[in-house]
Amino acid sequence: MAAKTLVVACVLILGLGIVTNGAPSPTQAYCKIVWLLGVPCDQVNMAIVTQVKAMGSYKLGPVTAALIQANHTSSVGQIESVNFTMMATAMSMGCHVEGLSVSAFWFSLLDNGTNYCNLHNVIQGSGLSKAPGFTEYTNEWLCLGLGLSACK
Ligand SMILES: *[C@@H]1O[C@H](CO)[C@@H](O)[C@H](O)[C@H]1NC(C)=O
Ligand SMILES: *[C@@H]1O[C@H](CO)[C@@H](O)[C@H](O)[C@H]1NC(C)=O
Ligand SMILES: *[C@@H]1O[C@H](CO)[C@@H](O)[C@H](O)[C@H]1NC(C)=O
Repeated sequence: MAAKTLVVACVLILGLGIVTNGAPSPTQAYCKIVWLLGVPCDQVNMAIVTQVKAMGSYKLGPVTAALIQANHTSSVGQIESVNFTMMATAMSMGCHVEGLSVSAFWFSLLDNGTNYCNLHNVIQGSGLSKAPGFTEYTNEWLCLGLGLSACK
């Protein structure tokens, strides 16, 4: 019983740590996703950049080995800022990718999963979701509208 409580507490504290670490203002809709892949980060970076360039609704910004920045225009004419941050994992040849999508305006708080889809569609379209060891982590706290999302 005590052990179970401890596990729950740890999960909550970890979750909150992720939320408060660089989370944007709560008045904006946003989504944060963490992916783990058994692929080197330089290959992940290339695949994401290629995919963002291929998708007409994205405008690619500055790209470095560790950070890819872009803007996305959603069909309703709203703009979201999208970042992909890459870090090599301790496990050899792996990459830890953090995706963050933030709506520019407070009134897009109920975004129907737009921010989730902004991130998910890039990873799906790039083929990275089929890479060895691919795992996606997020939840309703980190990713507003996750439960409502129906990505096209
Ligand atoms: C993204 O949008 C922001 C805010 O409008 C702007 O400052 C930035 O230059 C844009 N970046 C790109 C790559 O278009
Ligand atoms: C993306 O990264 C840039 C540079 O660190 C930062 O200024 C911007 O707020 C980030 N945008 C998002 C959506 O995290
Ligand atoms: C969300 O979905 C509902 C129902 O389909 C729609 O009425 C609403 O306009 C959508 N909101 C946004 C921001 O897309």
